Amino acid sequence: MPQLSTTLLRLLAILLVALPPSRSAAGHHPANNGAPRGDGDGKPLSPPCAPADRAALLGFKAGVAADTTGILATWTGPDCCGAWEGVTCDVATGRVIALQLEAPPPKHRHYMQGTLSSSLAGLEFMETLVIRDMGRISGAIPAALSRLTRLRELYLEGNMLAGAIPGSLGKLSSLQYLSLAGNRLDDHLPPELGAVSGLEQINVAKNRLTGVVPPSYKNLSMLAYLDLSNNLLSGAVPGFIGQFKSLALLDLSNNSFSGEIPASLCTLHSLTDLSLSHNKLGGQIPPQMGGLRSLNSLAIDGNMFVGSIPASLLGLQKLWYMNLSGNGLSGPLPTGVSNALPSLVSMDLSHNHLTGEIDQFFRSLSAAGHDVNLSSNKMSSQQIVLPQKLEHLDLSKNQITGVLPEFTRGAGLKWLDISSNAIGGQIPSSISKLSSLERLDMSRNRVRGAIPASMAEMVSLQWLDLSNNVLIGRIPDNFTRLTSVRHASFRGNKLCGRIPQAKPFNLFRAAAYAHNLCLCGKPLPPCRKI
Ligand SMILES: *[C@@H]1O[C@H](CO)[C@@H](O)[C@H](O)[C@H]1NC(C)=O
Ligand SMILES: *[C@@H]1O[C@H](CO)[C@@H](O)[C@H](O)[C@H]1NC(C)=O
Ligand SMILES: *[C@@H]1O[C@H](CO)[C@@H](O)[C@H](O)[C@H]1NC(C)=O
Ligand SMILES: *[C@@H]1O[C@H](CO)[C@@H](O)[C@H](O)[C@H]1NC(C)=O
Ligand SMILES: *[C@@H]1O[C@H](CO)[C@@H](O)[C@H](O)[C@H]1NC(C)=O
Repeated sequence: MPQLSTTLLRLLAILLVALPPSRSAAGHHPANNGAPRGDGDGKPLSPPCAPADRAALLGFKAGVAADTTGILATWTGPDCCGAWEGVTCDVATGRVIALQLEAPPPKHRHYMQGTLSSSLAGLEFMETLVIRDMGRISGAIPAALSRLTRLRELYLEGNMLAGAIPGSLGKLSSLQYLSLAGNRLDDHLPPELGAVSGLEQINVAKNRLTGVVPPSYKNLSMLAYLDLSNNLLSGAVPGFIGQFKSLALLDLSNNSFSGEIPASLCTLHSLTDLSLSHNKLGGQIPPQMGGLRSLNSLAIDGNMFVGSIPASLLGLQKLWYMNLSGNGLSGPLPTGVSNALPSLVSMDLSHNHLTGEIDQFFRSLSAAGHDVNLSSNKMSSQQIVLPQKLEHLDLSKNQITGVLPEFTRGAGLKWLDISSNAIGGQIPSSISKLSSLERLDMSRNRVRGAIPASMAEMVSLQWLDLSNNVLIGRIPDNFTRLTSVRHASFRGNKLCGRIPQAKPFNLFRAAAYAHNLCLCGKPLPPCRKI
């Protein structure tokens, strides 16, 4: 995976984690938060932990055969409200209200191995239960947890829990935050959970859940965060999700959902992140999607969407990530919207059947409307100023025509892939204005003419692929300035003359220069002396 995408994914992950309702109770609370135990101020001594709670905790401890985190080693002595790590008691009553166990970093090195004892169900005053990233806690989620009627937060993520999600969790009427992500849970989503109408967050990502989203979930109208990604779920994307007016994140990616995107989803004005990637969804992208005015990130790659990209998508003012790659989208690249996508960082439209002219498309992305002094009205019809934050643009594997426009300024563009299209014309010498570019791929097009010597100014380039075009003339000698290039290909053109005889150009494999008119010099045979 290219480094940039990884960065983006990480950013995305940060956004997800930072989402308002994920008041993830985890954290490394010191045991008991230092509840006063009679500090001489005349305050009453808080009571020691209730024997029933202590017994329930010891029941849990007994179910854990191995603990490399060191947490359970602190669970000794009579007072579980004292120094027992991860245990928090109500100061007034001495009842356990939170159990928060999380593997210390580096997470993959520490684990608890064992099962979840149903004795946890004895902690009847518990509001928060977090057992996170323990890696080797296996077995089933005890159905008896349904007795924890005060529970508001239940996080059992990053373990090895298996079996079905117990339907009895539907009795946790106070539950607001539920995460069972990253386990080995299978079977269907329990319909009973639809009764927990105060749920604000459901995360069951990265399990092996099958079946459909139960119709009873239409009652979960408080949901702000719904992550069902990386399972084996199928059926339609339920239209009732459009009624969840607080929904900020909807991630259904990497499942087998089919059918179309319900138009009702397009009325979710709080939605910031929508991912439907890698499903079997089809039909057209609803034009009303332009109404998702809070959207930061839209990923519908790896589906079977057809038809054209609605121009309304270009109106999304906050969108920074758009991935429509790997569908059956056709028709021209969207154009004709002024101030298009002003927040755009990354756009991937690759692997579709899109047509249209690349210069027109760049023109509509051009920052003229927001970045350039409008009153000076100097927006020459030729010059392109890309959006300030744009870093990644992938239009590869389509049927795009037109010619590359003249660039005025490339801002932060690092990755430009227009390979495998039908782009003609010449490489404009102003391409050198894209001075942050690290990866430029224009292979498999119909670009003709000479390679502009100005490209030698693009010193950030690490990847340069000009192969399979109709370029003529020499590879400019001053390309020897491009010392960061790690991959280059000039293959399959009509180039001639001496390959720049310096690192790295004389070190690439001969294949990088093959099938040209008369290139010579290392790594090819020496040039003939005249
Ligand atoms: C959904 O909510 C309505 C009204 O709040 C309630 O009458 C109904 O029983 C609920 N349905 C389910 C499946 O919980
Ligand atoms: C999709 O989910 C399955 C598990 O359901 C997982 O094994 C696979 O790695 C996931 N694929 C991606 C691309 O995340
Ligand atoms: C878009 O999705 C495709 C596959 O679904 C993935 O390979 C690609 O890296 C994604 N693009 C970006 C910019 O994240
Ligand atoms: C915009 O251009 C006008 C005329 O050229 C000039 O007077 C004004 O100061 C400029 N504004 C900015 C913000 O640069
Ligand atoms: C490269 O060489 C050309 C022609 O010799 C020259 O016009 C251009 O300024 C040079 N560029 C750099 C970056 O040296």
